Amino acid sequence: MAAILGSIAGLTYLVPYKRTHRRRAEIKEILTDLKSLESQPNYQEAAKINIEFFRAIRSPFGYLWWLIFRAPNLRRNRTKLVELIDLPFPKWQKEVLETLSWFEVWMRLLVPIRERIIQELARLKKTKQGPIVVASIGCGGMELERQIIYQLIRRRFDAPVIFIGVDYAPASFEVATAKFKNLTAKGLVEIRTASHLGNAALNKLKAEAANRKLMLVFLKADAFNLKGLAEDSFDLVYHTRLRHHLTLKQGRNLDKLASHLAPRLIELDDLFSIPEIIIISIFTWRFPAVLNGAIFSYLKDFSKKELLAQKWEAECSRKPFSCYLRVRDKPGSAKHGDGA
Ligand SMILES: C[S@@+](CC[C@H](N)C(=O)[O-])C[C@H]1O[C@@H](n2cnc3c(N)ncnc32)[C@H](O)[C@@H]1O
Repeated sequence: MAAILGSIAGLTYLVPYKRTHRRRAEIKEILTDLKSLESQPNYQEAAKINIEFFRAIRSPFGYLWWLIFRAPNLRRNRTKLVELIDLPFPKWQKEVLETLSWFEVWMRLLVPIRERIIQELARLKKTKQGPIVVASIGCGGMELERQIIYQLIRRRFDAPVIFIGVDYAPASFEVATAKFKNLTAKGLVEIRTASHLGNAALNKLKAEAANRKLMLVFLKADAFNLKGLAEDSFDLVYHTRLRHHLTLKQGRNLDKLASHLAPRLIELDDLFSIPEIIIISIFTWRFPAVLNGAIFSYLKDFSKKELLAQKWEAECSRKPFSCYLRVRDKPGSAKHGDGA
């Protein structure tokens, strides 16, 4: 009985004509955008791979063919894979970031890292003079910050905290601003934007934040531009679902940058899993741009074996999808106690 009800629910999700029509129109629009990139040498290969993907997902059989015959090859050559969100299309970036936030809320994808960061803030509150400064690299739509701030308000956290969200995708700030409208209207959070952050500007922010409780700074910049900041400018650096967007070399540079900027790094990312690729394909079938982000991310993610080979201190979990949570202290620094 449950299987029959499940199948009917699945069909009502996939079949309705209007949705199928909208989906087809969206794929057509994305293909037109991608074709406009084909003449640009920097994007040629990425455009070709994406065009092949969006053509394949026009039908379930085409997609199945792509999954069986193309995806394994792309997994082997994953450095070539560039998600639609990483191409210069603010419209699709916005759609992916908004839908990702939606999945993060409804599937509780951020709970492990959210609770770990709140625990860290509680620890810092006991030891820190002045405001606590944390930086979120590749913050996207800032769903994680929204959830942390909501929990801090609910738990009556009473120390000043500056959240610095760094992202170079213009759409991320649009998505985040809409999300914080309510909290800013109630005066619970103050929001600033900047396109550059130097030592003097950061010190000024710290001085101004001392009397305020929660401040959010959107930094519209490439995270690697932060290397000019003084050592330990932040108390904590974290990132979620960022590592798979970077090459291995960029990933190593990100680790170096994080250890320069803060004594502690916390990160979360998904793990490659074939059953989850199938489940997530069904969930995101209606949203072509999101399907692209989800499947290309999975193909670029570490497998559990690759994660273990990194010899990181990381915990794996399956709540509800396979991911890892890594906490890393700056090499050579004394490890912090974890007491909240
Ligand atoms: C998949 S999104 C994840 C967003 C968010 N952290 C989350 O988990 O919902 C990855 C984000 O990282 C950003 N990003 C990738 N490389 C970056 C870099 N070098 N500097 C700043 N942002 C970057 C992208 O623009 C994108 O918004």
